[in-house]
Amino acid sequence: MQPRHFISLLDLTSDEFRRLIHRAKQLKTNKDPDFQPLKGQVLAMIFEKSSTRTRISFATGMAQFGGSALFLSPRDIQLGRGEPLQDSAKVISSMVDCIMLRTHSHEMVTTFAKYSSVPIINGLTDLLHPCQLLADMQAFFEHRGDIEGKTVTWIGDGNNMCHSYINAARVLNFTLNIACPEAYYPKQEIVDNAKGHVHIFNSTEAAAENSDLIVTDVWASMGQEGEQKKREIAFKDFQVTKNTMNIANSDALFMHCLPAHRNEEVTAEVIDGSQSVVFDAAENRLHAQKALLEFLLC
Ligand code: CP
Ligand code: NVA
Repeated sequence: MQPRHFISLLDLTSDEFRRLIHRAKQLKTNKDPDFQPLKGQVLAMIFEKSSTRTRISFATGMAQFGGSALFLSPRDIQLGRGEPLQDSAKVISSMVDCIMLRTHSHEMVTTFAKYSSVPIINGLTDLLHPCQLLADMQAFFEHRGDIEGKTVTWIGDGNNMCHSYINAARVLNFTLNIACPEAYYPKQEIVDNAKGHVHIFNSTEAAAENSDLIVTDVWASMGQEGEQKKREIAFKDFQVTKNTMNIANSDALFMHCLPAHRNEEVTAEVIDGSQSVVFDAAENRLHAQKALLEFLLC
């Protein structure tokens, strides 16, 4: 039987997504050290890119659940020397209970999923970052209740986080306004598949109106460092400021997956201000990851 993978939020039904959020909220408050549903199980974590939150939350989650996690850098395993993905997926999955990958190419994760005998988790690719959305949505539900029917505004690059917000809008049934320079729009296919949920704007002010949540991310993602200067020019009118928050609803929240560049994509006043829940969402990575591991492995 094919194992259940988590590569995109579209792998979840809306009921499953909501159940994961509620389970993560329970796990956050109920820290029973004797609850060890993954005792003796091992998670392999393959990181082609840097990570603080994803690495620590998965490793800590496995430890708290009685299991363990292996940190694998492609530089140190044969994968980095060209061992085929298909062979690597078969071998690694024959020894561990779950594999989490953070890669440049999304196809690397889907190929692993094709040949793995255990669940594959997408810990971020150039295309998607679904784990962050579990944590962000948990933070929204904690502060404001269900997000169905609400309006979220994404400001900035049409990147992996933006794509995952588009998918979340489909699964959880909210409206997503996107303010983005035309050259950096999200992938058309992902937008087209979310018809009715997504509206694209050229100005942050127009996109922020009536919004319940403002979200942004870095202008240059991992792997795009060489484009930093060019992107600073392209995105200069797409910064989240106090004015953006004032245009949004008075109880609007602010989120950013972190790491953030203060006074670039968001002013320090906003990210460190009273509407920001970035550190709640960051902490939620642990609780959401535990709920996800339990969902896939138990
Ligand atoms: N938000 C997020 O995925 O953080 P890391 O890159 O530190 O894992
Ligand atoms: N868009 C960012 C997210 C980091 C968590 C990146 O891919 O670098």
